Amino acid sequence: MIRPISQVGHPVLRQKAADVPREEIQSPDMANLIEDLIDTMRAADGAGIAANQVGALARVFVIGVSHNPRYPYKPAIPLTVLINPRVRLLDDERFLNNEGCLSVPVRGDLHRYMNIEVEAIDRHGDPFRQIYRGLSAGTVQHEMDHLDGVLIVDRVEDNATMSTWDMFHAHHEKEYLSRIAPVIEATEPKVG
Ligand code: NI
Repeated sequence: MIRPISQVGHPVLRQKAADVPREEIQSPDMANLIEDLIDTMRAADGAGIAANQVGALARVFVIGVSHNPRYPYKPAIPLTVLINPRVRLLDDERFLNNEGCLSVPVRGDLHRYMNIEVEAIDRHGDPFRQIYRGLSAGTVQHEMDHLDGVLIVDRVEDNATMSTWDMFHAHHEKEYLSRIAPVIEATEPKVG
């Protein structure tokens, strides 16, 4: 079921989500939440969505990119459900990204770490571990931020880089794509 996506200003986006207790990971409620996150992300052409965005304060997010019209330059990410995720930085390399968010009407420039490792629990209750690099690492950090009540507007260092999507396409996309080309090249996992 597609759920409404909370927009910036809604208090739920500023709350820290709680770890999902082990015994609830395979509950019907959690299965419903996960299905709704997937449906809602796909309907909105998102690269990811966190539980906070549909009003649930549980540490769960889904990511998935496949020929995404909202982010045509993003390398593919298989559909992945992460419960109680933990991120470990593999080094301190960062890159200047430009991100949007389904809960925020503008995009802006912000830094993300280039190389991370994620440990989580998958929807079947099994351990999950994956290294992400580049834009995919950025997507994971974006969704982790949501679980902590942090939005892109908090990460943007120069407010002058904020633009609507139309203005991004008209005035900033070309420069962004040339800036980000080496990051796209380094993005992992590589699929499809
Ligand atoms: Ni977002």
